[in-house]
Amino acid sequence: MSTNAELHQRRIAAVPRGVANSLAVYAERASNAELWDVEGKRYVDFASGIAVLNTGHRHPSVVEAIKAQLGKLMHTCFQVTPYASYIELCERLNRLAPGPTAKKSMLFSTGAEAVENAMKIARYHTKRSGVIAFSGSFHGRTLAAMTLTGKVQPYKAGFGPMLPSVFHAPFPNEYHGISVADSLDAIEQLFKVDIDPAQVAAIIIEPVQGEGGFNVAPQEFLRALRALCDRHGILLIIDEIQSGFARTGRMFAVEYSGIEPDLITVAKSIAGGVPLSAVIGKAEIMDAPPPGGLGGTYAGSPLGCAAALAVLDVMKNEKLTERALQLGERLQARLRTLQKRFGAIGAIRGIGSMVAIELVRNGKAEQPDADLTRALVQAAARHGLIILSCGTYGNVIRFLAPLTITEQLLDEGLDKLEAALAEVTAAASQAAA
Ligand SMILES: Cc1ncc(COP(=O)(O)O)c(C=O)c1O
Repeated sequence: MSTNAELHQRRIAAVPRGVANSLAVYAERASNAELWDVEGKRYVDFASGIAVLNTGHRHPSVVEAIKAQLGKLMHTCFQVTPYASYIELCERLNRLAPGPTAKKSMLFSTGAEAVENAMKIARYHTKRSGVIAFSGSFHGRTLAAMTLTGKVQPYKAGFGPMLPSVFHAPFPNEYHGISVADSLDAIEQLFKVDIDPAQVAAIIIEPVQGEGGFNVAPQEFLRALRALCDRHGILLIIDEIQSGFARTGRMFAVEYSGIEPDLITVAKSIAGGVPLSAVIGKAEIMDAPPPGGLGGTYAGSPLGCAAALAVLDVMKNEKLTERALQLGERLQARLRTLQKRFGAIGAIRGIGSMVAIELVRNGKAEQPDADLTRALVQAAARHGLIILSCGTYGNVIRFLAPLTITEQLLDEGLDKLEAALAEVTAAASQAAA
């Protein structure tokens, strides 16, 4: 048997440091919201492999669907000899997407690939090149997605030059003093200073920022963006890669705003752990690029399609949107209790089961405590809980437990969080004394 320490030594020697690990915990097996490492230690998993496992690790229906598909077909390439499951999945995504306009979908493998293709489709359709994204956003690590990402360290620094014609406006953030009006003014300013709105192909936004710290875009902001896009013939791309598939209590977080996006990017929890992503959009826009302009060898693989179809069934049969709301309420209630005990919890925010806490010093938003956050992730793991940090200042803990988790296991995870918080806050005040 290998130990975590042995594997970590081999990892350091064989794998570049650019791909960072938040924990030196080497996973061996997992089931629903529990994971065991190579040493047999058990963890409650509040990370879900970064928002991929809304249906839990190895949901039996998803595993069955993949096994059945393995017995039939693993790969043909949709561009060579297409298959029915790809079409069925696109039909279902088209029906799920909000708004009355007819939709078409196209499948890819990763989130970044979906973002790249949404940008290509938007440019081709509008015959314009500009794209506006937001501060604190994360859209992926490939060239266009990295350019759109609104955080320099560690995603952009040293990897330039970025793509031209991409601009950033501040994302509204009440806790950090950026109002909806500030963000809208900044976009108008971009139109005055940097780019003619008639040259802007798209505005891309996460309805709830993921890596940026689970910042929820105010619904009136999304509605204002919709109106602004309509005024200038700009497409509105909603990136639901982290917020999608029941996480927020709706299939897509943008549903809360009542607007119809032009394009939606999805990935992660769409296929319960098999790499799959998609762009869903208004049919006329999706049909703009010519045959051959879009595609990919593995895009929409048969295994991914089989898994995604099973995931969509599970979400419906197990009512995971409602479950996300119930679990989210339970989680937020417990976090509010913890906030009374631990002054370091400066803010609790989220929507449905997409919930985060922001850790600060002296109760002040402008004093983010990234050190405490880092220590908490490690301490939680020692207590048998996997959590993830995020946020522009590295001081946010996000909660992404599977929506199939039992209440008992959720509570157990939160007990571990409380124990870890007690440990790290005591150590921090000792160090300060
Ligand atoms: C909102 C959002 N967009 C895009 C991506 C990129 O997805 P991937 O890592 O699958 O390329 C992510 C990944 O975290 C994301 O959260």
